[in-house]
Amino acid sequence: MSKKEEYILELENITKIFPGVKALDDVSFKIKKGEVHALVGENGAGKSTLINIISGVFGPTQGSIKVDGKEEKITNPSKAFELGIGVVHQERNLIDTFDIAENICFMDISTGKNKMKDKKAMNQKAERAMERVGLDLKPWQGIEELTSGKKQMLEIARAMCMDSKVLLLDEPTASISLTEADMLLKTVKQLKEEGVSIIYISHKLEEIFEIADSITVIRDGKNIGETLSASSLNKDKLIELMVGRKFVTETYNNRDLSKEPVILEAKDISSKKNPIPKSFQLKKGEILGWYGLVGAGRTEYAREIIGIDPITNGSLLIKGSEVSIKSYEEAFQRYKLCYISENRKEEGLFLQHNITDNVGIIALDQICTKGGFISYRKQNEITESYKESLSIKAKDIFVETASLSGGNQQKICIAKGLCVNPEIMIIDEPTVGIDVNTKGEIHKLIYELSVQGISVIVISSDMGELVGIADRIIVFRDNEIKGELENSKDYESMSTKVMGSILL
Ligand SMILES: Nc1ncnc2c1ncn2[C@@H]1O[C@H](COP(=O)(O)OP(=O)(O)OP(=O)(O)O)[C@@H](O)[C@H]1O
Ligand SMILES: [Mg+2]
Repeated sequence: MSKKEEYILELENITKIFPGVKALDDVSFKIKKGEVHALVGENGAGKSTLINIISGVFGPTQGSIKVDGKEEKITNPSKAFELGIGVVHQERNLIDTFDIAENICFMDISTGKNKMKDKKAMNQKAERAMERVGLDLKPWQGIEELTSGKKQMLEIARAMCMDSKVLLLDEPTASISLTEADMLLKTVKQLKEEGVSIIYISHKLEEIFEIADSITVIRDGKNIGETLSASSLNKDKLIELMVGRKFVTETYNNRDLSKEPVILEAKDISSKKNPIPKSFQLKKGEILGWYGLVGAGRTEYAREIIGIDPITNGSLLIKGSEVSIKSYEEAFQRYKLCYISENRKEEGLFLQHNITDNVGIIALDQICTKGGFISYRKQNEITESYKESLSIKAKDIFVETASLSGGNQQKICIAKGLCVNPEIMIIDEPTVGIDVNTKGEIHKLIYELSVQGISVIVISSDMGELVGIADRIIVFRDNEIKGELENSKDYESMSTKVMGSILL
């Protein structure tokens, strides 16, 4: 093979400057044919910016790209498609008014290959694409009702049926179940066998070591060293390269909460959507983990507790008194019960507004003066303090939220939850899409909140996360509570016990 053909994609000295932010600074790397190349780095390192440049969302400020040895100007997404570059972006990219087949065949439609006349062919193509990733849906189904995990799988199916030479996957497993993720990793391996080159971005480092041949580390928009072979690294070394220093995982001791009062109690609660009755207790200052696979019914249950979905049977007690919460507003204003959604884009943020306004709208209580005026000074002070304590990476608190990296948007949602000075917090998948370093910071923060007496429910599909911080773990499967376990903080024995109760 001549040198020219060895690499399918070569990025040379890529720099990207957004107003006031140098997102990429002289980044270079090359990808061989049939290789899985992982891009890793902390939140805001510049990974998605690279993906956007390779897929023609926007151009680089400087630098060049070669595809199959030839320099190309990828000025728009259609150009990337023509060059055989398929992409699954970090953010969802489906059209709500299109059905599944139309979404899967979107590029055929937009490039004029199929003007939606041949619906039968589109349906067949969609069926094949979905089969490949194990998605059991009908091509003519609408997409609005699909869960975010299913939408994600649909985009993966779409990218995989494009006959791409290069496939870019930006955090493809952030919101899908373990089974779906397994299927995805299998498909990635199969595509690699077929000679497809893949750029894979994930904060789940186990996945990186499972599938990557080579790894490029990006920190603050710059290459850290040369591209390395995955076999020459281990998890600790990789984390060190990402964060720029030795990294130690904190451990949290077991606590005796037996004398603490019960703050929140659910007795046989059920709803129309979720008819199986479920009960649990949460003590003052306790961290209660809700483990289950994506789709186990944990978010739905939380929505009943916070007054979004009406409870039809059973009772809810806060500090021993029965309550009937009619809206989420009532939950957090009257009962200091706050919920941080897993669906940040849709439920969490005003993306067109800056960071300080996003925080300010929640912190109105604290920033309004007696005369009813907003104290912007106070608002900015509060926001600055969260920017600092959660290490939100942004030029300042006045940048538009939409321009922040995925992980940094997540941190603003957490800041918003903290603003109401809650007594009870339910945090849904707190560290999805969060880098290892910040994940540690968020765990520490949750622990500190609990030490201050705040009771926290952490909904998570990451067993390691719950074993690390929870006092107790409740296990969900198919809308049912299948078990309740004291956390020994020993990962091996806890995962055996949790899996045991899931299978019961
Ligand atoms: N459209 C934009 N306008 C201004 N700044 C931007 C824009 N897109 C990205 N940035 C900035 O560029 C930097 C890199 O962001 P990017 O999204 O590439 O990070 P990332 O490595 O993908 O992080 P994450 O792991 O959180 O997804 C960040 O500082 C981000 O705020
Ligand atoms: Mg990103």
